[in-house]
This record gives sequence, C-alpha cells and structure tokens, in this order.
Amino acid sequence: MHHKEQVRLMKQLIERLDSGSNVDAGGLFIQPTSTYTNRERARRERDEFFLGLPQCVGMSGDLAEPGAFLTSNDVGVPILATRGADGSFHAFINSCRHRGAIVETEPRGTKRRFTCPFHAWIYDTGGALVGIPKLEHFGNIDTECHGLKQLPAEERHGLLFVHPNPNGALDLDDLLGAWFNDEFPTWDFAAMVPINRDTYDTACNWKLAMDTFGETYHFSSLHKDTLFNTFHGNVQCYDDDADVGGHSHRMILCRREIDQMRHLPEDEWDITVAGLPVYWIFPNVILMPFRAGVFLVRAYPDRNDPGRHVSRIDFYMKPELQNATGPEALEIQEFIQTIAQGFAEIIRDEDYVMGESQQTAANSGALDHIIFGRNEPALHHYHATYARKLSLGVEPLLDTV
Ligand code: FES
Ligand SMILES: [Fe+2]
Repeated sequence: MHHKEQVRLMKQLIERLDSGSNVDAGGLFIQPTSTYTNRERARRERDEFFLGLPQCVGMSGDLAEPGAFLTSNDVGVPILATRGADGSFHAFINSCRHRGAIVETEPRGTKRRFTCPFHAWIYDTGGALVGIPKLEHFGNIDTECHGLKQLPAEERHGLLFVHPNPNGALDLDDLLGAWFNDEFPTWDFAAMVPINRDTYDTACNWKLAMDTFGETYHFSSLHKDTLFNTFHGNVQCYDDDADVGGHSHRMILCRREIDQMRHLPEDEWDITVAGLPVYWIFPNVILMPFRAGVFLVRAYPDRNDPGRHVSRIDFYMKPELQNATGPEALEIQEFIQTIAQGFAEIIRDEDYVMGESQQTAANSGALDHIIFGRNEPALHHYHATYARKLSLGVEPLLDTV
C-alpha cells in the first residue's frame, strides 16, 4: 500500500481510538435470511458468480517453477492450471479429450507431461495432446484439435485467475477495479511462498463465512481470548469504490501495536504493524497482507446444500523470511507456522462455529431477516453488491429498527 495511504488510514484509526468512535455506514441494513437458505438463489449464485466470473485459483507461488501445476474442482468445473516451460500461466478443463476422465488427479505437483489414467493419452503443460497409445488401433484423430480445452487464464499481481467457462470474459480490470489494480502491486504478492493450507467443510452458507470477516464488532466477545489480545475491537477503517461504480472494498483492522507506533515519526509508520488490511474481491475472495506474508481466504458453496460450504484458508510467506539463515531461522519458521495455523484455527473454532449456529437458525425459518449495524459497512456493501448483481431489491438503510 502506498505509504501516504498507510498514514491516512493510521491517522483515522488513531482518531477513532482517541474519540471512541468507529466507522459509520449511515444506517442499519436489513438482510433477508433467505439469502443463506434459498435453493433457487444458490443456483443463481453458482451460474452467475462461480461459473460466470473469473475465479482466483491460487497465487503465483503455487506455480513456482516450469511444469508446476494445481488442480481444482471448487466451482464444479475440473480445472488444471499449469506453469508452462516458458513460465507462462495456462488453465484447462481437466478432462481428457478421449472419454472425459479427469487427467490429473493430484492437487498439485510438477510434471512435464500429464498422462490420463484411463487409456494413457498424454498432454503437455500447454495442454497439447502429445501422445496416444496404439494410435493405429484407435483411428485417425487430429491431435491439433484435441488438446485439453483451454480456459481463459491470467496471472495478475501474483494472483492466478481462471474463468471456468471456455468462452467466459476474463476481465480483471473490471473484477479488481482501478483501485486494486493500483494498490495490489505494492504488496509484491507474486513473490510470496505457499506455507500452509487449511480446508474447512462447514455447515454454513458460503456468505456466512464471508460475513465473519466483515467487521471487528465481534472481537471483544467471540475472540476475547484470542484475536482481541492483539487487535483493538470496535474500531476500523473502511473504503470502497462504489462512487465510481466499483464493487471493491477494503477494511483496515486495528492492531494494538498502533499504541506504540503512533509515537514514531510518520515515515516509520507501517500499516501491517499497526493494522491488518482486508481486501474483498467479489464474490468469494479475501486477501489479508500482513508482516510475514498474506492470507488468502476463499469460500465455495456446496453444490447441493445452500447450508454448506468449503473454505480454503492459505498462508503465503514473504520469501526473505523463508530464506533467513542462522540461529533465528528456525525461530522465524516456528513463529510463522504458529501464525498460519493459529489464524486458521481461530476461524474454524470461533468464527465458523457462529456461522453454523446462524445457519441452524436460518434453516428453521424462524427469523425472516437479520441486521447489519452502522459499524458493519463491509457487510452492507457486500450484500448490496450481491443484490445489485442479481437484480434483487435492497431495502433502504434505516435509522431505527
Ligand atoms: S479417457 Fe483419457 S485416455 Fe481414455
Ligand atoms: Fe472473527
């Protein structure tokens, strides 16, 4: 993040801490609980958001070397993403052009060739069909036309984006907006090294998982013995680009280290020491850069049950920390592992427990709506954006409910 912006945000946090104030969305937002339970809605989300938008399948560090690959079936389309011999990023439908079997079944690895386990057709990292056993028995086939089906793919700012529809438009200028396209390069995400991956299959709608990241109001209660020790609750910064028609938004959470850092000269201020930036990429990605690296959180709906989802919580580390040598290296490694696992476990054991409890109540139909407060603007923006994109109505903000 540009330093001038870091200083602006830290000053805002300090002013709010000193005055006991917080961000103010200007009113109360009424959110229908059916958004978490409705099957028809879930079908539309799948078609329009998960099959109809570019998906983040990982970060550049996941494909660190030529031949590196990863596979994904998170949105119901089998995807094989590769790093070609020339370093370029590709993505394909991970389905053999013979009879459709999944070609690569490992989640990740490094290969020069992908051999289908069924009859051993062979593809290279660029998706070309380069081998067919017993071709003279099989019959004539134009191998040029029977490579793996290519998917639109682009690597930008260290993030790997794939459109799950071969004919889909991969418009990252629109997805990220001018703001994130300007700010993301300052984090050098491309250099980050994958360290830890957690996957949680949880009995709550994917948006309830996203919602848990959308405010700090709960830190002093739900996280009183964990995150509240290192973060001030009930204070944050919030910005979005709605004024230019965008859908991006960013929160800044407030670390307690701000209490010391505020006394340093401004040119020594560091938002990753004093706070935690939380970027939202619509519809299901959250990025949180911090001192040691970045957390990438993605939430995917279950294909059959609106009340279930899978969260992927991946931690990537700054390379200079990984490359540390000397006696402190082991200590750094242990510290980072503790951060990575500790953070994911808090999400699982605290936030997602609330998600499941909310889902249980939503499934009962007992409440027809819930309320997002003035201090929860990310939730306003997220759900208003969601509603706008599905052409649903949004109730006006209320002063009192
Ligand atoms: S289905 Fe892949 S080789 Fe036959
Ligand atoms: Fe939380």
